[in-house]
Amino acid sequence: MATFIATLLLLLTVAVGMTPSASQSSLLTEPMCYDWGESSKGALSVLEGEAGWLSCPLFSHPSVYNYTSTQSTGHNLFWYRLPEGHDLEQPISSSSRLSRDRERLWLQPATIEDSGQYICMLRNKSSCSKIAMRLKVLRRDDVVRDTDCWPPVAAPPSQAVIPLQEGKILECPDLQDVTKMADDNLTVTWYHVTANGKCHSFWNRNRQQKGSSVHIYIMSEQFQGYYFCTVTYQRRGQELHFTRSINVTAVSSSSLPKLPSILYPVRNKVFSVKQGTEVRLVCRAHFPYLESPWDIWWTVDGKTLDKLADQRRFSKSNRQINYDYGDRTEESVLVIQDFRSDDLNKEYNCSVRNERGFDTRRALLEEEVSVPSVELGCGLGVTLVLMLLLFVVYHVFWLEMLLLYRSWFGTDERLTDDKEYDVYISYARNSEEEQFVLTTLHTVLENELGYSVCIFDKDSLPGGTITDETLSFVARSRRLLVVISPGYATQGSQALLELMAGIDGMAHGGHLRVILVQYKPVRWQGWVRELRRARVALALVCWQGDKSRELNSRFWKRLRVELPMRRVSNSMGEEERQNSKEVALMRLYSQNSTNSQTGLISNT
Ligand SMILES: *[C@@H]1O[C@H](CO)[C@@H](O)[C@H](O)[C@H]1NC(C)=O
Ligand SMILES: *[C@@H]1O[C@H](CO)[C@@H](O)[C@H](O)[C@H]1NC(C)=O
Ligand SMILES: *[C@@H]1O[C@H](CO)[C@@H](O)[C@H](O)[C@H]1NC(C)=O
Ligand SMILES: *[C@@H]1O[C@H](CO)[C@@H](O)[C@H](O)[C@H]1NC(C)=O
Ligand SMILES: *[C@@H]1O[C@H](CO)[C@@H](O)[C@H](O)[C@H]1NC(C)=O
Repeated sequence: MATFIATLLLLLTVAVGMTPSASQSSLLTEPMCYDWGESSKGALSVLEGEAGWLSCPLFSHPSVYNYTSTQSTGHNLFWYRLPEGHDLEQPISSSSRLSRDRERLWLQPATIEDSGQYICMLRNKSSCSKIAMRLKVLRRDDVVRDTDCWPPVAAPPSQAVIPLQEGKILECPDLQDVTKMADDNLTVTWYHVTANGKCHSFWNRNRQQKGSSVHIYIMSEQFQGYYFCTVTYQRRGQELHFTRSINVTAVSSSSLPKLPSILYPVRNKVFSVKQGTEVRLVCRAHFPYLESPWDIWWTVDGKTLDKLADQRRFSKSNRQINYDYGDRTEESVLVIQDFRSDDLNKEYNCSVRNERGFDTRRALLEEEVSVPSVELGCGLGVTLVLMLLLFVVYHVFWLEMLLLYRSWFGTDERLTDDKEYDVYISYARNSEEEQFVLTTLHTVLENELGYSVCIFDKDSLPGGTITDETLSFVARSRRLLVVISPGYATQGSQALLELMAGIDGMAHGGHLRVILVQYKPVRWQGWVRELRRARVALALVCWQGDKSRELNSRFWKRLRVELPMRRVSNSMGEEERQNSKEVALMRLYSQNSTNSQTGLISNT
């Protein structure tokens, strides 16, 4: 301030030629200058080498300062400059490059050195006011451009909105201001850069340049984007130019209805609410394009949220749902914390408004009947747990369940066929398995489980050929139990004969099922694979050593499932069963000795 006054003083002294003392005395009568500070509009940008101008911001409110009327009250306008990096204001001397015209200071053209703060001061003898503004002169290379065909422009784009299918004339911004500066031959060239950055040469039937302006006759989507106009003019033999841009967007046709409408809640929509919870009421509305403002808001009992006594619990959140050619769908959610019973009786209205109309809709509330979701969830949980339990039970006890089922609903095969034996046991003679067959398998099946068992050596009668007899025994049995071992099915053996008989029986439609019993792990033989391939009904039951000795072990259960149904265990009491077990064991013991003899005999 002090420096400014000092400068001013100096200026006045020089200009009027007063003595310093006189100037000092005149200073006393000088009015204090009212300082408006720096203009709030922000810096003005001009491109290096282009024509530009500063407009004294005091006159941007003509109702306060009107250039014409200030002239009649004896005011003068002075310009000062505070170059970047300086702190001393300098008066601006007019030149052909820097000239004044009414409230404007013209730069024709601007140079990088012109950047800085500018002060315009308006004063007459009794009043003074001043304001500062900032000028930025940009280098062409420093301007950010989206595409190469996008010319550097310092001024922010102006906006133009054109309804689809309608027409509009685009004038180059600031063109009117420069016409009186131009001596001659003012030309304007236009380019269009589309919204996706494509550079267009675009004149056609619907869009043409006429004189200095662009006429869009029928607006369409692809006419959107940036329009650049470069104004070139002559002044005192010098060619000057500047470029401006217009951001053109299409909006929905102005002939469409423009009333706002509430899309949601629909009429008679009832919101379910629960006490003690957070309740969210959603309102959505459509606002057709209009240049004027629009609004969406909630009222509770006719009061807007900021007028409510209980503001803490009520809030809203707004957002845009859709924007399409200026038509917008907006959402406002009324959030009620900790819903209370007296909230139920309040009137909640969503209202919308624009220049053309108003709409309001009440959101009806209904208390949710308290079928607590917890119980429902519990019920569901219990069902799930039960199902899981059943699943596990089935997987662990399926054999037991199968046996139980059969004992209730199965049919006794003895009543429906005329076979003599339940099971024919086929095995390799003189093998490790022989012992198992004779001492364990045979005994348990016959004595414990009550099956009639046929083994060739034991049951064959003297006389007749072995082959025929074998075949007839197999044919008279309901199941063929094959104890597989590495030696089983060697060429020409008794076992092979039995197996062939079994397969033959099946082939002829006899009801014979083959059960494979694996006593010791064996490598699968070719013939087993062949049986499988022949789609013979095969079941494989594996002996698992000591684990399988107990009568209620998996081995015996599996075997019983494969063998014909027998209600043996049901008919026997616990004591009886214990008894028969002992008997069986005794027999098992006695047979052990006879069997080893038989083995010796057949060996010889
Ligand atoms: C400024 O005032 C003159 C008369 O004093 C008036 O004719 C003119 O319209 C005014 N300008 C503005 C921009 O208000
Ligand atoms: C200076 O301008 C004011 C209005 O701003 C006016 O009232 C006053 O008469 C003018 N003074 C002179 C000497 O013209
Ligand atoms: C104006 O343009 C015309 C041609 O369009 C040209 O003959 C004339 O010299 C130009 N005038 C100046 C001052 O450049
Ligand atoms: C151009 O106009 C569109 C629509 O009005 C707007 O979304 C976009 O931000 C504008 N671009 C600039 C750079 O102002
Ligand atoms: C609330 O909306 C209903 C229509 O749904 C209307 O009748 C009622 O007058 C509205 N209340 C207020 C306070 O605007």
